[in-house]
Parts: sequence; C-alpha cells; structure tokens
Amino acid sequence: MTGAEAPVDWEALRTAARDAMSRAYAPYSGYKVGVAALADDGRTLVGCNVENASYGVGLCAECGLVSQLAATGGGRLTHFVCVDGEGAPLVPCGRCRQLLYEFGGPELVLETPDGFRTLDEMLPQAFGPQHLR
Ligand code: THU
Repeated sequence: MTGAEAPVDWEALRTAARDAMSRAYAPYSGYKVGVAALADDGRTLVGCNVENASYGVGLCAECGLVSQLAATGGGRLTHFVCVDGEGAPLVPCGRCRQLLYEFGGPELVLETPDGFRTLDEMLPQAFGPQHLR
C-alpha cells in the first residue's frame, strides 16, 4: 500500500442498503429495513429484515448482513449504513449494535440520522470478545 486509503463511497453503500430494503420481508410490522457494510477486504455485504408469523422469531436486517459476512469469507466490518423504508438513515437497534460489535469493534463507522458515528459512540463500554479472553 502506498499513500492514503481510497475514500469510502457512502452513496454506493446507501444505494446497496436501499436496494436490500426494497426486498425486505416485513408483512407484520410494515417497517422495511436495509443495511449495507464494507468489509476490510472491500467486499460489500447487505441484509434486509425478514419477519415471521411467530413474531419473536423475526430477523433484523443486520442478522442477514453478518451471516453474509461469515458465509462469504469472514473478515472485519469497517463502514455501515442502515436505512428505513424511505431510504433514510436509521439507527440500528441495541441488539444489532452488539452484533456489529462482534465483527466491527469500537472503530466501525456508522452513518446515523445525526451523522457519522463510531460504534464506540453508539455502544459505549461494550461487552465483547475481549471479555472472554
Ligand atoms: N429492524 C431491523 O431490521 N434492524 C434494526 O436495527 C431495527 C429494527 C426491523 C425489525 C422488524 O422487522 C422491524 O424493523 C420493526 O421493528
């Protein structure tokens, strides 16, 4: 590597998240969510929420994203976008912040309705893999 890293194409990530959101399966809440993230090798991962007639079994969009991360080779998440049904930035729920922490750690950068934030700001004093070592 020489020089600075390529700038992150946040608009491309937003587009990927909106595209995933358009395929969300949310017949019960009617609240579609899409997510997209970059992995440290440049891969783009996506996810959408997938609900279930047994309501509590429904999957947040982030569940699909971390599954795709693992299933396509693993690695670390570096940049993350979550959008609502209008395509606007959305904060990930608390459980999903924990999911993201496992694979992105405190430095993961998220786009939120209030601008860019690190996961450390969104989930302070996180419990994580470091506690189990
Ligand atoms: N949802 C997500 O997919 N991710 C989040 O971070 C927030 C909530 C979904 C779950 C449910 O299908 C719908 O949004 C309404 O809560």
